[in-house]
Amino acid sequence: MRWIYSILLPSILVLLAAGIVYKHKNKATIIKVPPTELAQWYKPDNKRQVWLHNMFKLRREMQAVLFYAEQKDNEHIAKWAQQLNEHYLKIGEMIPSWNKKLDKSALSSIQTNVANQDYPNVIAAVNTLQKSCDSCHDDYQAITALTYRAPDFSSIEITPSLSFNSHMQALSKNVNQIKIASEDGMPDLALSSLTELNNGMNELGETCVNCHKKDRKTYPSEQMNNTLLSLEQNLKTGSLKAQGRDLGTLAVLACARCHGTHRLAFGAKSLLSKEPNLAELLKH
Ligand code: HEC
Ligand code: HEC
Ligand code: HEC
Repeated sequence: MRWIYSILLPSILVLLAAGIVYKHKNKATIIKVPPTELAQWYKPDNKRQVWLHNMFKLRREMQAVLFYAEQKDNEHIAKWAQQLNEHYLKIGEMIPSWNKKLDKSALSSIQTNVANQDYPNVIAAVNTLQKSCDSCHDDYQAITALTYRAPDFSSIEITPSLSFNSHMQALSKNVNQIKIASEDGMPDLALSSLTELNNGMNELGETCVNCHKKDRKTYPSEQMNNTLLSLEQNLKTGSLKAQGRDLGTLAVLACARCHGTHRLAFGAKSLLSKEPNLAELLKH
């Protein structure tokens, strides 16, 4: 009866999973995930972004081979064709399971045609090879960049007892408290919330250097500081409209800009790295 366990049960599970996905095809999406061995070719596992740099070389080499084939330049083309060969095969050396995605016949056709100085066929073979680049990129380029290169905020904290996320919630509360108090004629509360927001922003600014080591980010920036000052002044003596305008400007400068870069990418990255969870799928 062991076959029940080794064949039947897994088949049922697969069917069940397929059924769930099928039934929910409007609500769930299937994304191919790149092999986890890719991590070793990226920071922090590697000192350099080896995978990405190999890709940049490939693009340059494809361009060079095409360029010299069009020029019928026998002197320069050989070097580039040889490098293209090396770096294309390196894909399969780095990720053995991707060997089968490589178009090795197009690759050797480039070499042969270069040796024979048959330039029209060099160009044809380069165009064929490009299809293998495109096909892998369609499936894996965006998700690989997101998985291995999107800045990761999961270990960033404001202090050991204050998580990044809790700090974000506090900042958001401050912003809204200013708005509520300003609208409802409580200037003292609006001003004390502004002070809290200002302090909170300064604390947040100290975390940028975790990653921005060379390209120092000044947060709050001079522009943000000017807006904070203007808002303070307007909360004391300005119109409701002027207060609203300053607060809106501040939210764009101090919150939305960074969210456009960091929250968007980190949110997508976190979504993708969630462990697939059958229970969750079933619950759907
Ligand atoms: C088997 C999969 C695979 C093949 C084949 C492949 N690539 Fe890539 N390539 C990737 C992945 C994955 C990325 C995403 C890397 C990243 O952004 O960190 C990428 C990214 C790139 C990038 C960077 C894009 C950018 O602007 O950020 C270039 C350029 C590139 N590939 C060129 C090529 C060329 C040229 C070929 C063919 C000669 C090729 N690749 C073949 C998987 C592949
Ligand atoms: C977890 C690491 C990390 C932290 C923390 C971080 N950044 Fe970044 N940030 C990056 C990386 C990496 C890039 C570059 C993205 C790229 O080039 O792909 C970037 C890009 C940016 C950009 C857009 C590109 C540019 O240089 O203008 C802005 C704006 C930015 N960060 C602001 C900030 C601010 C402000 C802070 C602190 C409040 C901060 N970042 C904290 C990693 C981080
Ligand atoms: C480093 C750039 C950066 C700046 C500047 C920034 N945020 Fe965020 N914010 C993030 C990131 C990254 C997340 C996602 C954190 C996570 O999911 O753990 C986030 C998440 C949030 C959240 C959601 C928290 C939750 O419960 O999931 C709120 C609310 C928020 N930010 C408010 C603000 C406000 C208000 C400001 C401006 C005063 C601000 N943020 C400035 C990067 C930034």
